[in-house]
Amino acid sequence: MKIIVDNNIVTDLKSWFTGYVNNFKYGDPDSQRNIDIKREHTERVTGEIINIGKQIGLNGNELNLAEIIALFHDIGRFEQYMLYNTFSDQRTEDHADLGIKILQKQNVLDNLDIEVQKLILCSIKYHNKPSLPREETRTCLFYSRLIRDADKLDIWRVVTDYYHRKNGERNVALELELPDTPGISKEVYNALMNKQIVDMKNVRNINDIKLLQAGWVFDINFKPTFECIKNRRYIEMIRDVLPVSEKIDYIFNIINCHINQSLI
Ligand SMILES: [Fe+2]
Repeated sequence: MKIIVDNNIVTDLKSWFTGYVNNFKYGDPDSQRNIDIKREHTERVTGEIINIGKQIGLNGNELNLAEIIALFHDIGRFEQYMLYNTFSDQRTEDHADLGIKILQKQNVLDNLDIEVQKLILCSIKYHNKPSLPREETRTCLFYSRLIRDADKLDIWRVVTDYYHRKNGERNVALELELPDTPGISKEVYNALMNKQIVDMKNVRNINDIKLLQAGWVFDINFKPTFECIKNRRYIEMIRDVLPVSEKIDYIFNIINCHINQSLI
């Protein structure tokens, strides 16, 4: 499929995004910080997707499409936070599906080719699902994989910055309101030892969520993403904030082997 996405459309959509996000203003500094975190996350994910896209040889139109997908992948987060005061999809609704509804209701993508619109919505829909479906088009799956890699790179950055923060202040939204209890869940251990993604429903404490995040390496699709993971030392930074434990060492051995094999 030949993708045509004009540079001017990207500029217009970026202005729409800025205007939209500016509607979400909070007097309370914690809430405002959570909005800022998501806006800045989006800005960095657009950088990440372009970086990966260039390294795998996408052309200008394809890079524009990738940039739009990144720009809107978390558009549902702002309304989700306004409605429910949390980023927990488990407790509220799926923020990808919410984002699609907003884009459709506000006719944001109307100036794009219908096939391109479909690709954007499909990639947003799948950016946060535990796994990708089989029965989608190759192009949809390709852009879904691209946004999943770019998104994970920046979430690793956000959470590793948070885990190694100097001020020690807690942000319950980033911890998904999980308790800071000892130990790890058996299901989380079993999934990772089998090189599988951890199911959110098995995450019971902060150790589990850190392990879930480290285990995202099993869901990375492109070699340049693995190179970033290694160069930025994300996995080591997560290991450093988990307890001393033989089981956790086993898990990280498997994770590090997977990264090294993917870089060959
Ligand atoms: Fe998201």
